[in-house]
Amino acid sequence: VTLWGGRFAEEPADELWRFTVDESDRRLLGDDVVGSLGHVAMLEVVGIIDEEDADAMRMGLRTIGTEAAEGSFEWKDTDEDVHTAVERRLGELIGDTAGKLHAGRSRNDQVGVDLRLYLKRSGATRIEEIEGMVEVLADKAEAVGDTIVASYTHLQQAQAIPLAHHFLAYAWMLLRDRDRFADMLRRIDVSPLGAGASAGSRLPLDPAVSAAMLGFSDVFHNSMDAVGARDFVSEYAYCCAQTMVTLSRLAEELVIWSTSEFGWVVLSDRFTTGSSAMPHKKNPDAAELARGRSAAVIGDLVALLTLQKGLPLTYNRDLQEDKRGVFHADDTLAGALRVMQAMIPSGDFDPPEPTAMVGALDLAELLVSRGVPFRSAHEAVGRLVMRLAAEGRALDDATAGELEATHVQLVPEDVTSLTAPASVAARQSPGGGSMESVAAQLDAVRRHLGQS
Ligand code: ARG
Repeated sequence: VTLWGGRFAEEPADELWRFTVDESDRRLLGDDVVGSLGHVAMLEVVGIIDEEDADAMRMGLRTIGTEAAEGSFEWKDTDEDVHTAVERRLGELIGDTAGKLHAGRSRNDQVGVDLRLYLKRSGATRIEEIEGMVEVLADKAEAVGDTIVASYTHLQQAQAIPLAHHFLAYAWMLLRDRDRFADMLRRIDVSPLGAGASAGSRLPLDPAVSAAMLGFSDVFHNSMDAVGARDFVSEYAYCCAQTMVTLSRLAEELVIWSTSEFGWVVLSDRFTTGSSAMPHKKNPDAAELARGRSAAVIGDLVALLTLQKGLPLTYNRDLQEDKRGVFHADDTLAGALRVMQAMIPSGDFDPPEPTAMVGALDLAELLVSRGVPFRSAHEAVGRLVMRLAAEGRALDDATAGELEATHVQLVPEDVTSLTAPASVAARQSPGGGSMESVAAQLDAVRRHLGQS
């Protein structure tokens, strides 16, 4: 069944059918039914159809909705797309009255409303999952207490920090990913229904009626924009891609941390896999796949942007391809969020202390607090580090005498401030790697979780 047979003397060729029909829109079935119910309500309110017809269509559409929910809806190879399938099925259920459904509507505004309904819902679920992930990180930050590790720059040990500070960095990144989803959803929350094929209709449509009935906060202002724009799809994919990149970076940390070289974490047996060849291996495959799959989600975003860049307004069949990309991005993100959220709590974190060299900046800052210009302090401590490193000694191996020789402003007691725990204990600046900051961050993160 096509919705456009009248103008054609011949049936579509198999090759054309196989090339143009894309079953990935089948998951819009429930939303197509809901969108159609919104359209029926509007047609009735403005008097294009009478109550009897509207009731018949509502009844048929509800039956299709049930079939969709139960998974019993029967697709036909001859259904060109989800919209055709619903109209075909409605005809089977209520007869000729089904032919009145498409008045004042086009598949161009219809597919827009379906996809927006779908993404509003899936976006809300992704937000909940991201928040679940933030919670897991906050819990882990709390659980590791005052465990101290090094922060890294250039993957070289930088400063001593509470491990919790590192977890919370990801909590903040993910909160921004959550906020991006929420902000993007406001722009998706605009109904395009009533835009028709491209320029509206000579029928007295009232798009505000179907928009309100479908729970949209706003309605389109320009019919060409409504049916031609897909920035809401690429923006959704961007939110997925950015969140995948956050997860990918965290996954990379887990991969590094679980090496025997780092030895920060032992991932649970339930979230690691073995080697078919090497009996000793325990591999962080879930983290690696989360990292690896971010590549294809970035690809989805690039494909969606490229899909739009050369299209004249309004609808072009190219746009059918948007669903495949955005569904793939969304599904991939959902899978990665679920596995990472389950994997992190199961990790047993017991990192070795960083080398005491991470106190070098502390020593320089100690001199600054005694009036020494930072540049000379840096130079003096640098010379001490060079000497110690040449002898294979760490900063906290420095003797009181060596300290005094480093700079006249240093006193023998300063030796006690050279360890990593002393460095963390002395950290003062807000938002820095101190236990006070970690406590404040935990409060703030949990507060942010309460308000999306
Ligand atoms: N299957 C189409 C899509 O996903 C629905 C809109 C078709 N519109 C049209 N004029 N052929 O984009």
